[in-house]
Amino acid sequence: MSEATEKFDTAMAKWQEWQDAPWGRLRYAIAEANLLRHLSGDGPPLRILDLAGGDGGDAVRLAARGHRVTVVDHAPAMLAAATERAVAAGLTELITCVHADVTALPPDLAEGEFDVVLCHNLLQYVDDVPGTLAAALAPLQRGGLFSVMAINRHSAALTAAVREMDPAAALAALDTDLARTQTFDMALRLHTAEEITPVLRTLDCEDVRHYGIRGFCDYITDDARKYDPAFYARLEQLELATTARPPYMHTARLFQLTARKK
Ligand SMILES: C[S@@+](CC[C@H](N)C(=O)[O-])C[C@H]1O[C@@H](n2cnc3c(N)ncnc32)[C@H](O)[C@@H]1O
Repeated sequence: MSEATEKFDTAMAKWQEWQDAPWGRLRYAIAEANLLRHLSGDGPPLRILDLAGGDGGDAVRLAARGHRVTVVDHAPAMLAAATERAVAAGLTELITCVHADVTALPPDLAEGEFDVVLCHNLLQYVDDVPGTLAAALAPLQRGGLFSVMAINRHSAALTAAVREMDPAAALAALDTDLARTQTFDMALRLHTAEEITPVLRTLDCEDVRHYGIRGFCDYITDDARKYDPAFYARLEQLELATTARPPYMHTARLFQLTARKK
């Protein structure tokens, strides 16, 4: 097992704590709402491929809507947790977990002709972004929906200044694409929607839409307040109202791009 895979495996407890926190819940809720803008509500169930799908945070929500989701990940503990979640939600018929590297998919998946492919929060861990996106798009059928999400580099300086109150770190963050994840204790490379959009276009994607996730949450430093259900509900409304609204999407903590394959 590679060092990186091991880090994803051993950080499960921290990762699940992050997912259950208000900022984790917002990440999944807003991403799902953005996907639903592009999926017909009353059509037949879709075949969805969730690449680097981890422990199934997106997959379980989509399967609960009746879709068939295949989760691919290279970390065995993530896949075991995804299976546990599918069992707990009574969704084992609709969720399949596959142990594989995104850039070396088994042929039945690589030629799978999926209706939807997700590639959420993988790009910050890879060296070859165009190659990874090309591999991710291969299993998508023409006209299918692609969704890619990653940490937004524009948020790094704001996060350092507002949350850490460290103007020097904010200044330094303006001129680097390197960062670190505390959850997985790994180096990250940060990107922007403006950089990834043209890459998608060169890979035969059209109708690229840009959404921001957590345009406000991360800049409210009183994290304890976010656990108050009434406060959380109002914050979620605000995030939903601004996910596609300039300028907020440009400085949100994460960017999500959706696109159609030509
Ligand atoms: C931050 S987690 C995101 C999980 C999920 N997409 C989400 O947003 O909840 C990153 C995941 O990518 C997986 N991963 C990283 N590089 C990968 C690769 N080359 N092939 C397959 N999985 C990979 C890790 O094991 C981990 O589960």
